[in-house]
Amino acid sequence: MNYYKWLLLFICCVCLACGQPRDQSSELTVYTSRHYAADDSLYAEFQRETGTTIRVVKNKDDTLINRLLTEGAQADADVLITADAARLHRAKNLGLLQPIKSKKLDQLVGESLRDPEHHWYALTLRARIIVHRKDFDTGALRNYLLLTRRSLVASKLTEPGPNREELDLILRCATRVPDHGKLTPWRIKVVQGQARRALGQVWRDIFERSHPDASAEQLNFECNRPYRAPLMLIVSTKIENQRIPAWEQILSGGAVCQNVLIAATSLGYHAQWLSEWPNYDTEVKEATRLSVGDYFLGFIYIGTASEVPVERVRPQIEDIVSWYDEGETAHGTTPA
Ligand SMILES: Cc1cc2nc3c(=O)[nH]c(=O)nc-3n(C[C@H](O)[C@H](O)[C@H](O)COP(=O)(O)O)c2cc1C
Repeated sequence: MNYYKWLLLFICCVCLACGQPRDQSSELTVYTSRHYAADDSLYAEFQRETGTTIRVVKNKDDTLINRLLTEGAQADADVLITADAARLHRAKNLGLLQPIKSKKLDQLVGESLRDPEHHWYALTLRARIIVHRKDFDTGALRNYLLLTRRSLVASKLTEPGPNREELDLILRCATRVPDHGKLTPWRIKVVQGQARRALGQVWRDIFERSHPDASAEQLNFECNRPYRAPLMLIVSTKIENQRIPAWEQILSGGAVCQNVLIAATSLGYHAQWLSEWPNYDTEVKEATRLSVGDYFLGFIYIGTASEVPVERVRPQIEDIVSWYDEGETAHGTTPA
């Protein structure tokens, strides 16, 4: 059956699904995830030209692939069309496709657009062009990192960490935060290199005192806790001024922590803001020379990602944002 010409009319990826050998003289079954009316006119034209009836089975890509898997040798599909080359590759790896030998297809479809073993051909007449405006201020684009920033667990943060110059930038960004009364209530301690060993030893000893039954493994973990990343910043707030509520000074310190995350991310690093038990331990406070009234705000680990973090579920904006209504009163909204 000469349906290669017909295949080429499509503007998506096309491949042959393997099914049991059967009489293909008068009917062609197409499994497709496409839903465009334009395809129907192509089917009609093909039918008119060849006298072959086309049976179209429409569904989502993965559903069609699963269906082929389930049907196995009983599958009556002749052609599988998806809009996603990765799915074609998967279908091939699942053994759903059989190779097709066609000089014409090879001539018309470039090598980079077809499977080297002829299991599928990518046929496209649609170009998705990336436009690069040279005079565009890329600084503005960098702001998008706020929409994509993601923490990475400290144990996945590897060398290299920020160098001295980069650290300086991070610290300058960190301290550029709103600060009611210009109190500068926050403090940052940098822990890196061998200092991590000293700190780990302190944490281990404190942990051992409060957990006399701790196993050697646990104590070892405590010792290595600061070693999870090349660099760690201990951020705290020093409440010395009572004129501005302590709460506001803590909030300002929270902004310092967030700015550290953003600055580190903008330099290409990953980070994680952790509290863990040292955050709430008075002995750790003393060892870090914090006063009783001071607060640890976080231990921020920074380094190079050893793996790309997967996105986590984010809240729906409408669940947390409401609009103050002009009819809103202390007792609720008055009916219009
Ligand atoms: C103040 C503070 C303390 C945190 N402490 C911990 C912690 O001890 N352990 C933990 O697993 N995550 C902790 N997290 C959460 C991590 O930072 C986590 O990686 C982050 O919320 C992931 O979300 P993101 O990718 O949006 O940054 C803390 C977050 C904040 C703001």
